[in-house]
Amino acid sequence: MNDVTPTSAERTAKLEGMGCKRKRVEDIRFVQGKGNYVDDLKLPGMLYGDLVRSPYAHARVKKIDTAKAAAVPGVVAVITAETLKTVNLAWMPTLAGDVQMVLADGYVLFQNQEVAFVIADSREAAADAVELVDVEYEPLPVNVDPLKAMAPNAPVIREDIKDKTEGAHGKRKHYNHIFSWQAGDKAATDAAFAKADVKIREMIVYPRCHPCPLETCQCVASFDKIKGELTLWGTFQAPHVIRTVGSLISKIPEHKIHVIAPDIGGGFGNKVGAYSGYICAIVASIVTGLPVKWTEDRIENLSTTAFARDFHMDMEIAATKDGKVTAMRCYTIADHGAFDACANATKWPAGLFSIISGSYDFPTAYCLVDGVYTNKAPGGVAYRCSFRVTEAAYCIERAMDIMAQKLGMDPAEFRLKNLVRREQFPYTSAFGWQYDSGDYHTAMNKAVESVGYKKLRAEQKAKREAFKRGETRELMGIGVSFFTEIVGAGPSRACDILGIAMFDSAEIRIHPTGSGICRLGTKSQGQGHETTYAQIIATELGLPADSITVEEGNTDTAPYGLGTYGSRSTPVSGAATAMACRKIKAKAQMIAAYMLEVHDDDLEWDIDRFRVKGNPERFKTMTELAWAAYHEVPPGMEPGLEAVDYYDPPNFTYPFGAYICVVDIDVDTGQTQVRRFYALDDCGTRINPMIIEGQIHGGLTEAFGIAMGQELHYDEEGNITTASFLDYFLPTAVETPHWETDWTTTPSPHHPIGAKGVGESPNVGGVPCFSNAVNDAFSYLGSTHIQMPHDHWRLWTAAEKLGLHA
Ligand code: CDP
Repeated sequence: MNDVTPTSAERTAKLEGMGCKRKRVEDIRFVQGKGNYVDDLKLPGMLYGDLVRSPYAHARVKKIDTAKAAAVPGVVAVITAETLKTVNLAWMPTLAGDVQMVLADGYVLFQNQEVAFVIADSREAAADAVELVDVEYEPLPVNVDPLKAMAPNAPVIREDIKDKTEGAHGKRKHYNHIFSWQAGDKAATDAAFAKADVKIREMIVYPRCHPCPLETCQCVASFDKIKGELTLWGTFQAPHVIRTVGSLISKIPEHKIHVIAPDIGGGFGNKVGAYSGYICAIVASIVTGLPVKWTEDRIENLSTTAFARDFHMDMEIAATKDGKVTAMRCYTIADHGAFDACANATKWPAGLFSIISGSYDFPTAYCLVDGVYTNKAPGGVAYRCSFRVTEAAYCIERAMDIMAQKLGMDPAEFRLKNLVRREQFPYTSAFGWQYDSGDYHTAMNKAVESVGYKKLRAEQKAKREAFKRGETRELMGIGVSFFTEIVGAGPSRACDILGIAMFDSAEIRIHPTGSGICRLGTKSQGQGHETTYAQIIATELGLPADSITVEEGNTDTAPYGLGTYGSRSTPVSGAATAMACRKIKAKAQMIAAYMLEVHDDDLEWDIDRFRVKGNPERFKTMTELAWAAYHEVPPGMEPGLEAVDYYDPPNFTYPFGAYICVVDIDVDTGQTQVRRFYALDDCGTRINPMIIEGQIHGGLTEAFGIAMGQELHYDEEGNITTASFLDYFLPTAVETPHWETDWTTTPSPHHPIGAKGVGESPNVGGVPCFSNAVNDAFSYLGSTHIQMPHDHWRLWTAAEKLGLHA
């Protein structure tokens, strides 16, 4: 080999394919302030919309007087439900099969509900006029407590459906009841509990929290009256779904709707659904014939769009005396607010909550979820979560610790005793899920060894003794969590949204000079898709990642897709990308065979080329084949080198992880110091280790926020008391702990490149880990469960209750 011939390693490195810590290509524009967000969009003649919102959580709307507002200079129109009724848009369907008021139609059902929409030639004029819309309310009784929603005399939340005995998901058992959903084997589980040696039962609450993307929800609607076409720019995690739903609601033919999602500053589930502001902006543009922009402010975002969690879980575990779990049972009340606008696949009104048996080999299990209406904002989105997986993981991981405590076993040892074993995969859980692959014991043992777990426990023991002797006022807590996720919705037999099967897609075109473009139906909100999809293509096709443009967020150019949420991009669109590459590669192989005058089967793939078996000097590189595809194809073959793939996954993927955290809590102030946090993740084949690490850091920071301080809190009158960042804890770099990350790699057997999702894992595994650490600190004093969030006031109160301030 002469000196200038690159080695295999050099050729591989040049591609920057899978496994490479490729720098994020999107950061070039982001770090220079050159991102292109919805609010950067300025169209000629553009108007601005702003919403009038209800100060009451529950009230009859007796009169809306818009005269004073309409007289404000610059105001073009004020829209109310009466205006929307003329175009049949006063109510809109939700993703969960319910209907929701676009603007208050006789009632308001939660504080800050949308009442009227002011359109003006400036944002300021619209905001001024909002103050002048005169609304007469008659307050009604309020209920914000989901546990009281189905009481005999509870306030009726939904007058419009109070007599309906059937909902979108079957029978309703109360006028505030939305659905009942169950999974598992009740009889077998009850029988196992009846003969159990040891049982625990705890009410575990996952408080209402919010995804809090840095950029709030917003859109610009522009209706072209001549063509009858609507262009909608917006912060959409699922642009094609918005187009289809938009067409169904507005009756504008789908081919005349163009949805564009430019750069998005964080989504986390907040930007999946359709909001009143979007509908109002569309109607306003149709009415005025001008583009209309709607931009949500922070208070509106926190108090009205897409909350997460609010699950109240009555959890039980049964076990033998020597610590083998025998059954689990959980009854949950899910607070969906005033309308069921939960973003779930149709068949799963409680999402994928039945992953609640977690990573453990439960012989039998049962869960029942009741969804209820309250006077709170609608939502229930998958905030960095695959449809309620986060709630399930929190519940089982807290419950496992509570059981370990009762058995007097170490939480890590108790988990190791009950984790599904490697030889059991593919493993069918008591709820019927088939976990694709896993090596839980290797992960758990690596985590335990990496942190020096035994030493930490010894230190904790010594500290507890010192605490008893009054030598310290600090409690040390060690949190362990082991989680299994279920991501990649989804197999179409199991998952659809409004009847649209949950597949996803990729279309790849390779240009004559060997560069190309890949278009997808997913939409990055910061996950780095432009970087990582190109890496999959680089490895699959042997073309440098730098030569591939990745484009998302344009429904006119991308093939139909269901969007990005619930860590589904890699499991579904990542697979579609690989499959589209393989179609291209198959054609390239035929071209190579023709050019080299051999049979297809006589060729083998080598990094970036097809070479003749046994004669590696004879080859055609992918770049040469791209050129040939446009001028030298075999007779009868059509020219060009492109493919589209619609991928319907055969199963979900099941990433997992082992997390360990160490905290020190000052019992006199309730202040918690996170001393260490170690996160081991297994997401199968790793496409970009640097991006994965970034995903883990971000998700852990969110988990820290949720566990240690976040709650969307309402007072008894339904006033939201945490609608700004003054009252709602959002961790900054100052509070955020240092993260130690680690990994194991257990590829998914059914995914073309073996990859599983990763984006939501740290939120799923992080929250129980923090909470277990805090609870572990107090456990030796007899405390079993302290509810989240674990802010210093609540922990001070917990210490007070335990008599530590006497
Ligand atoms: O759907 P979403 O993009 O939020 O989640 P994801 O599929 O878990 O991917 C998040 C980011 O991590 C993407 O840029 C992926 O390409 C990357 N990733 C990876 O590098 N390797 C994996 N096995 C999974 C995700």
